[in-house]
Amino acid sequence: MKPTPSPSVMKPHPLAQESHAAASAFAASALAADAGRAGEKSDTSAPASHASGPTDAGGQGRGVRDPRPTAEGHHPVEPDALHGSVPEALPQGISSSARRLPDVDGRPFVVDSAAGAWITDAEGRRYLDFAMAMGATVLGHAHPAVVEACTRALQRGAMPGFTHAGEAAAAQALVRHAGPLVHATFVSTGSEAVHLACRIARRATARPVVAKIAAGYDGWYDDVALGWTGSAEADLSGARPLAHGVTLVRWNDLSDLEALFAERDDIAAVLVEPVLANAGCLMPQPGYLQGLQQLCRRHGALVIADEVLTGMRLHPGPSSLTMGLEPDLVTLGKAIGSGVPVAAVLGTAQAFAPVVDGRVARAGTYHGNPLVTAAVLATCEVLESSDHAALLQRGERLAAGVREAFGRAGIDVSTSGLGSVFSLWFAGRAPTRYEEAKALLQPERSLALHMALRREGVLTMPSGWGRLFLSFAHDDADVDFALAAFGRAAQALAPLRCAPAFPGTVVPGR
Ligand SMILES: Cc1ncc(COP(=O)(O)O)c(C=O)c1O
Repeated sequence: MKPTPSPSVMKPHPLAQESHAAASAFAASALAADAGRAGEKSDTSAPASHASGPTDAGGQGRGVRDPRPTAEGHHPVEPDALHGSVPEALPQGISSSARRLPDVDGRPFVVDSAAGAWITDAEGRRYLDFAMAMGATVLGHAHPAVVEACTRALQRGAMPGFTHAGEAAAAQALVRHAGPLVHATFVSTGSEAVHLACRIARRATARPVVAKIAAGYDGWYDDVALGWTGSAEADLSGARPLAHGVTLVRWNDLSDLEALFAERDDIAAVLVEPVLANAGCLMPQPGYLQGLQQLCRRHGALVIADEVLTGMRLHPGPSSLTMGLEPDLVTLGKAIGSGVPVAAVLGTAQAFAPVVDGRVARAGTYHGNPLVTAAVLATCEVLESSDHAALLQRGERLAAGVREAFGRAGIDVSTSGLGSVFSLWFAGRAPTRYEEAKALLQPERSLALHMALRREGVLTMPSGWGRLFLSFAHDDADVDFALAAFGRAAQALAPLRCAPAFPGTVVPGR
């Protein structure tokens, strides 16, 4: 086996270009609706059945029926200022393509404010939020304890740049519910956390290659951008790809992992989410995570649990610890900061040895500053007294209600996920493998559902790979509101009814 060249001597790999294409494909599939942003002011990408659907002619969406008061400090923007054009200074009108939302009925979605489970747009409409910043908070938007802690931190100087007591305290709070993961270090984003975890694993094992799960999303950096959903690499149909020291292995397939270890003896770590969340919350089959753990141990590879999305959702720590994994390293992000940009890598004493003795380079101006650690501390404190079982139950009630709503409309729907984060599949049974998921994907329907729900005052992700996120701020009344909206949206989608077989059938309209 050839050793992987060090990054300094690596020539640009042809796959780098493909990764870029995959990135575009990802954004495109997430936003099929975008067809027409240039020039089309009305939402021509919405299915015909919606053309006569409920409109908000007076500028008042159904979402504003919610009786609760509008968030304080709301300053409505002149609607005309928002229509049609994309601001020149900001390409695509947003800094992350994957977060663009389609226009609905000619209206772009521009946020004014967010509080609890609700978002208010710039025209004053309120939406019950199930996108929750792609899971970037599990407490709800602008949680008062986090706002207060961060305000205090800002007032005391957010960037002194040197050691401060809050950083150690926040690390302590993260490892308190992390079992054998006794160390933590901070970065600013989930992508950075994955980057650092891979670097630690390579150092700790003196091996160069990290295997990530095909179709998994572990951040947007070049190395792990390999094998995103919809990319050619994710299919693993030919020779196993290797780029930037990263290769791929199939989800829910222990024999493929065995094959990988037979092919290579230079695997530093397997990078795995406990639920393949960004591919539609594909659940691990019974024994899969344990089997993966055993194979890694046997072959001297570490397990990195990427919990940027799943962390803190089952208890105030990494979810994988309750799901049969004993990871050496864990990445956390999103929920630990309740919307403030912070992420962390946690590790066992053994895995973190090269961090403790300084052999792993860590650098970052903003890492662990008082603002972000105040957010982590406040979040952990609230999570410790939060009722995770109730959150799980509420999520399950929502998922069951959504399935029923579609059932009443004569549309088979299934859900998969962890309760507070789940995906919707237009099929009687949720997929567990990427190939199945790909065959079941119905981007047009997912988009149509997003549009129909937006008209109902409910916000979801528009992509078929997307997820619904619940937070502790969603109460039973919110679930009732959502279920009524899903009921009407399902009826609106009924004319698009088609029953895909499972799996592999070509879905009409694709
Ligand atoms: C599992 C997982 N890993 C890593 C990331 C990257 O995190 P960030 O967007 O904070 O860079 C994400 C983001 O969605 C994620 O879901």
